[in-house]
Amino acid sequence: MLAVDIIKKKRDGLALSRGEIEWFVAGLTTGAIPDYQASALLMAIVIRGMNAEETAALTDAMVRSGIRADLSDISGRKVDKHSTGGVGDKTSIVLAPLAAACGAIVPMMSGRGLGHTGGTLDKLESIPGFRIALSFDEYKAALKEVGCALIGQTSEIAPADKTLYALRDVTATIESLPLITASIMSKKIAEGIDGLVLDVTTGRGAFMKHEDEARVLAQTMVTIGRQAGVRTEAILTTMDTPRGRAVGNALEIVECVETLKGRGPKDLERLCVLLATRLVVLAGVTDSSDAAERQVQRALTSGAGLEKLRAIITRQGGDPTILDDYRRLPSAPHRRVLHASADGVVMRLDAGLIGRASMTLGAGRATVDETIDASVGLLVEVRLGDRVQKGHPLIEVHYRDADRLDAALALLEQAIVIGGEAPVARPLVLETIGFE
Ligand code: URA
Repeated sequence: MLAVDIIKKKRDGLALSRGEIEWFVAGLTTGAIPDYQASALLMAIVIRGMNAEETAALTDAMVRSGIRADLSDISGRKVDKHSTGGVGDKTSIVLAPLAAACGAIVPMMSGRGLGHTGGTLDKLESIPGFRIALSFDEYKAALKEVGCALIGQTSEIAPADKTLYALRDVTATIESLPLITASIMSKKIAEGIDGLVLDVTTGRGAFMKHEDEARVLAQTMVTIGRQAGVRTEAILTTMDTPRGRAVGNALEIVECVETLKGRGPKDLERLCVLLATRLVVLAGVTDSSDAAERQVQRALTSGAGLEKLRAIITRQGGDPTILDDYRRLPSAPHRRVLHASADGVVMRLDAGLIGRASMTLGAGRATVDETIDASVGLLVEVRLGDRVQKGHPLIEVHYRDADRLDAALALLEQAIVIGGEAPVARPLVLETIGFE
């Protein structure tokens, strides 16, 4: 087989065979297929799409690019949550410790920033010393000891996703149902879990702008998860405005810790409690959703979730004193506050543009090799529908470089609309899919 023939076939809109997909993914994993050919195939898939058989074959080939972790020597059902991406979407770092504090075993394999969205791994790496690259043995040892491990794709687990994910981030090849499905489900199936809850986002700050396509994505992932023996369910959520107030890596860590201290934004807390509750149910800690929710609430108010995060950070080599002293986290040298230019109501806080502004400041990558700046980002001071007067602070920008600031401010000026009418805000949770 030749890589160029497979690329040409997809470019021309034809379906790839299972054999061709397996061959390509295997070549990518060994390094026999170079990044430029992988990127060309990714673009062809974005434009031409894949049918259900191709999507399942791609997911399967990506799972088999590494090992499917066997965690059977750790007792209890292993569960995880994954989001299809968003701005300020930091729920994993709050809900994983909450669920683990309730007795769920949470092996969580996350991703880095993707396009205009932030990534759990980049956020965690803003904690001095935190190691997301654990070997399989270290991963298991952390799970046994703490009940939760927060890691990235490795050379052993989902290595094909590690390569494709980094390429998609910088080649405008993210927004594709088969690629998102295969990326998420390959690492979730490979990490050795029994249950999975998916937060499938839709709206201005999501990869799926329209509710219908997000619903199809959710249904596809639920089907693929179940076929692989993972009890999978999905929640369809809106991502029109940033989740919580903070956007940017270290700033989001602070907001996660504040949420675990009971002082976080209420919409963020509500979603974290909802998702953690599903994990507790899927883990079989209790069959009753109400009882699970009470346990999660207790873990939040008692500080057990916060203490679990402390244990996770410590186990993975990070500095746990950041929980008590945020000055130990990276901090940007400069601040600039964007103020309302007129009286009115906050009619739009466009999460997509706010995410791009954060990337522009240096919180995301423009090329594969670029290092991100963990300290920069934004704090959104208003909520949709707030009434403000001229001069009211809207967003506090944390920045390092004046040129980047100017470019970010230009995006923020478009992102926020102050007007005369109250906006129609969609509910945070639109629908549940595959709940039993
Ligand atoms: N999260 C992933 O892991 N992959 C995607 O493609 C999108 C979100």
